[in-house]
Amino acid sequence: MKVAVIGTGYVGLATGISLAFLGHQVNCIDIAAGKIELLRQGKLPIFEPGLEELFHKAKPNLHFSTSYREGLVDSDVIFLAVGTPANVDGSPNLKYLFSAVDETIACLRNREGLTVLVNKSTVPVGTADQILERVNSASLHSSVTIASNPEFLSQGRVVSDTLYPERIVVGGNERAIHVLQELYAPIISQTFISPEQTPRPETTKGATFISVDTRSAELAKYAANAFLAMKISFINEMANVCDRVGADVTKVAMVIGKDPRIGSSFLQAGIGYGGSCFPKDTRALQFIADTIDYDFKLLSAVIEVNNNQKYRIIEKLREEIGTLYGKKIAVLGLTFKPGTDDLREAPSIPIVNALLSEGAEVYVHDPIAIDTARAILPRTVHFKHQLSDVLLDAEAALLITEWPEYLNLKAEHLISVMRRPLFIDGRNALNAGTMNGIEYIGFGLGDRIGSKPLHLV
Ligand code: UDX
Repeated sequence: MKVAVIGTGYVGLATGISLAFLGHQVNCIDIAAGKIELLRQGKLPIFEPGLEELFHKAKPNLHFSTSYREGLVDSDVIFLAVGTPANVDGSPNLKYLFSAVDETIACLRNREGLTVLVNKSTVPVGTADQILERVNSASLHSSVTIASNPEFLSQGRVVSDTLYPERIVVGGNERAIHVLQELYAPIISQTFISPEQTPRPETTKGATFISVDTRSAELAKYAANAFLAMKISFINEMANVCDRVGADVTKVAMVIGKDPRIGSSFLQAGIGYGGSCFPKDTRALQFIADTIDYDFKLLSAVIEVNNNQKYRIIEKLREEIGTLYGKKIAVLGLTFKPGTDDLREAPSIPIVNALLSEGAEVYVHDPIAIDTARAILPRTVHFKHQLSDVLLDAEAALLITEWPEYLNLKAEHLISVMRRPLFIDGRNALNAGTMNGIEYIGFGLGDRIGSKPLHLV
């Protein structure tokens, strides 16, 4: 099939490259000329494990353009994958999306055959209807049909999530559903030969194709992210309770996670979620609820818990060392999760700012995001490429992102280099059992109460 993808961010590139890898002819369009030039030269503007390999294999079927007219020629399917950043009030900004829709409509006039216009961007319920209105007012209703096809990609796993998804969700009429089912057939039935760097997981037998109406598809995306965010906020609240009663949240999570109705994923307690999706999408869903006059109490609590949770690490630090004024604090990791250079909504940013406001000398390390962080964090922060520089003589180390190199830190090493070997693990990522001889504090590990008797009644 002939496919066009508008927007070359994570979602657009993953979609375009994967479909080209599967044998479709794909035109990727972006108004950012620099990005298109880079892609034409065979370079990727983003880093994702396995994407480079797929890109090289897919090259004969891939074309890049800044021009809608050139890029949309003869397309059977057009994907909209432009950003929907948050406005100040939390609502998603649909400016870029609608401008892409209008440009597309202008190019589709006087064309023969049927085109499916598919929205992949995360958008409020009813956006597909609004796109349809624009199509109808351009008198294109008989040649253009609308679909909504949300993505559930996780950064760092984009290739694997695209090639081996659990489900493909399509909202739209029968015609649109039929075309997209055909487009995704190799993924649905897993008939393609896997790329070497991203082999098919043994458990992947195929993807479930779910067809629904456009509104349900649009809402399902927000529901998925809000539900996962809720699991994180729930386990973080449990961790806070564990801290007060001397129980271990990792054991509680293990016990509840064994129940298939609950599931074991997204129950890692710590400083809370960040990134380009959960914070933005939970706020957007709250905005949607507000606009329809619905008080979504559970969602508001999820957001509030997450906003507070990052500051728990500062409270824990203060409980141990008292005033932070003039003390050297080592911050390990800045990105919102390991395996990405993304600092969007990373908990590290408010944490570093809070440490600075209390007068601490803040030394930060991150394996890949130090240079990007310079543009975001105040200049008074000490940015270090060497981990040894941040740990040397530090009064405490705060683990913010669970990068592999921090997980291998040895207790003896921390004791020998730090002024005080106090290690606060914001992700419960280290093995507490191997941390003998240092002061190791996690989130809800029950370590501060120990075996003191507890009388709650
Ligand atoms: C997420 C969803 O997983 C994905 O399906 C959706 O399409 C986009 O949003 P992503 O933002 O890439 O993907 O990261 P994810 O791995 O889900 O982690 C999000 C945040 O939650 C990170 O800050 C992570 O540290 C935190 N998290 C995750 C926890 O605090 N505890 C957990 O148990 C899991």
